[in-house]
Amino acid sequence: METMEKQSAAQLMMELESRYGAHNYHPLPVVLDRGEGVFVWDMDGKRYFDFLSAYSAVNQGHCHPKILNALLDQAKKLTLTSRAFYNSSLGEYEKFVTKYFGYEKVLPMNTGAEGVETALKLCRKWAYEKKGIAADQAKIIVCEGNFHGRTITIVSASSDPDAKKNFGPFTPGIVTIPYNDVKALAEALKDKNVAGFLVEPIQGERGVMIPDEGYLAKCFELCKKANVLFIADEIQTGLGRTGKRLCCDHENVRPDILILGKALAGGIIPVSAVLADDDIMLCIKPGEHGSTYGGNPLACKVAIASLKVMDDENLYENSYRFGKVLLAELKKIQAEKPEVVLNVRGKGLFAAIVIKERKGKSAWELCLALKENGLLAKPTHGDIIRLAPPLLITEKQLMECVDILRKTILAF
Ligand SMILES: Cc1ncc(COP(=O)(O)O)c(C=O)c1O
Repeated sequence: METMEKQSAAQLMMELESRYGAHNYHPLPVVLDRGEGVFVWDMDGKRYFDFLSAYSAVNQGHCHPKILNALLDQAKKLTLTSRAFYNSSLGEYEKFVTKYFGYEKVLPMNTGAEGVETALKLCRKWAYEKKGIAADQAKIIVCEGNFHGRTITIVSASSDPDAKKNFGPFTPGIVTIPYNDVKALAEALKDKNVAGFLVEPIQGERGVMIPDEGYLAKCFELCKKANVLFIADEIQTGLGRTGKRLCCDHENVRPDILILGKALAGGIIPVSAVLADDDIMLCIKPGEHGSTYGGNPLACKVAIASLKVMDDENLYENSYRFGKVLLAELKKIQAEKPEVVLNVRGKGLFAAIVIKERKGKSAWELCLALKENGLLAKPTHGDIIRLAPPLLITEKQLMECVDILRKTILAF
């Protein structure tokens, strides 16, 4: 009887979302109620391994006590001042985050999309004020298959028809080239009006598309030669997801503009950041850009705590080591069931399996089966399942998850 009531409570929550919320998402039918570390629980108390980590926002694990305490301590003191005044947390955070990533300045924002917008605006300012591009002529190169967020300008740069249909007119000044194509970039850079190259070091939403080794370094070099800003969107790949602090670190590339979000606040509140050196950042003057919540005291304390947890708990190393274990195991599963698993790939704890579409049996159905077996993942682009657990997963837990994946795929 009790289970029946709880089941209907979950059903009710889904119905409420469907009835009163916009239908801009298509969630897996599970109603989550609690989270701790690598686990989340639904309203019936069933426990799941979280293999999405809120699109890599929860790299430090759900409700991390140190990050939560930073939030709670600050929340009792001061939460928001706006930037009309100084506050006693922002300077401390700005010093911490710039030293942490090795930049001269940071511009604090809230969501990832705002971070990307900020980077694009900054790049255009720099183009007119430093590079000397004629007014309104600046172009920014982006890659096919990108995902940088959902604002009008960002979807103007998208090649996904669902992201664009009936949202026009779009922002001009964007040039799209194929991803993982150095020659295409070299060609596009011949245009003297190019101001920046915006790239995801791995295309996460597209299905964890990993470019060839050396791609980022070569692109960076070409940008340097052309006096074009290399802008890395590390909102999903940053903070340990790919086995290093930043994905660009794999190729010793230091982006001219670095965009961070998601795990910068450990999944607690939205915090994003744009990092650059003075020469670029100081192109934006007071009154030219901002955000009411950007740089709020809560965000500052939460971001510092989130970054400290990454080091204190060896999450970079964890991701690097266990990423290798995960990929090796996924390859074994692929070999055992090639008629279901077409391909597997990964870097750090950022992996994907490509599922062969079969009559009525798709990645979506496989995710439903995984859910039944206690693991939550979500398809991206139809036939691809992204696997991205919180980085504090232990080897034992990871092997338990590999067993769930194997069992579910073999039975599929
Ligand atoms: C690479 C990348 N850039 C930007 C964004 C947008 O971030 P937000 O949803 O916080 O606006 C995302 C979100 O998934 C992302 O993965």
